[in-house]
Amino acid sequence: MKTIELNHPLIQHKLAILRDKKTGTKEFRELISEIATFLCYEAMKDATLEEVEIETPITTMKTGKLNEDNYAFVPILRAGTGMLEGVISVVPNAKIGHIGMYRNEETFEPVNYFFKVPKDIEKREVIILDPMLATGGSAIDAIELLKSKGVKKMKFLSIIGAPEGIERVEREHPDVQIYCAHIDNQLNENKYIVPGLGDAGDRIFGTK
Ligand code: PRP
Ligand code: URA
Repeated sequence: MKTIELNHPLIQHKLAILRDKKTGTKEFRELISEIATFLCYEAMKDATLEEVEIETPITTMKTGKLNEDNYAFVPILRAGTGMLEGVISVVPNAKIGHIGMYRNEETFEPVNYFFKVPKDIEKREVIILDPMLATGGSAIDAIELLKSKGVKKMKFLSIIGAPEGIERVEREHPDVQIYCAHIDNQLNENKYIVPGLGDAGDRIFGTK
């Protein structure tokens, strides 16, 4: 599936503030969360609604409602947790899992250190959250871990993606739809996204 990029002046505006190295932790966190809401909105475009009958103050009508029990959000630690508030604000009853992953600083390969997901994860559509999709290694491993637990439908939401990493995930997991607020130019020699925004985890948590 071809990656869907949010193409909207409001997103570009928010990304401009997010990317700026002068932007502080508080505003950075708020923007990550806000952009995550927009990504979630786009990713839920094909959501199936269940028919319900409701009574307005004027009359009764048949309409559609989302069964939130069909969904789970899975942020990749640490930086993915920064997107959680934004998505939970629109689907508040979805369950939440966590995958702990960090990149080895020399090999750039992901290392999995934590995995805890809802018991019935295989019955849910899983929306994976990670603001940065760089080499794609973390995304690929997270998707494989979830597939090994029986998950059949997954989407991947990221704020910034690198073309190299996106192509890798598309090739290895063509069944997983990726949504990016923006696809940047390339990776540098340290596998950071250029122009990017730096280290998302450090900027969200103020660790550097
Ligand atoms: C960052 C980011 C992704 C990963 C992307 O996490 O949040 O998980 O790197 O890189 P990749 O596509 O090359 O795998 P990091 O390892 O910095 O951990 P952190 O979230 O704990 O800071
Ligand atoms: N992880 C980040 O936080 N930023 C990058 O540019 C690449 C990986």
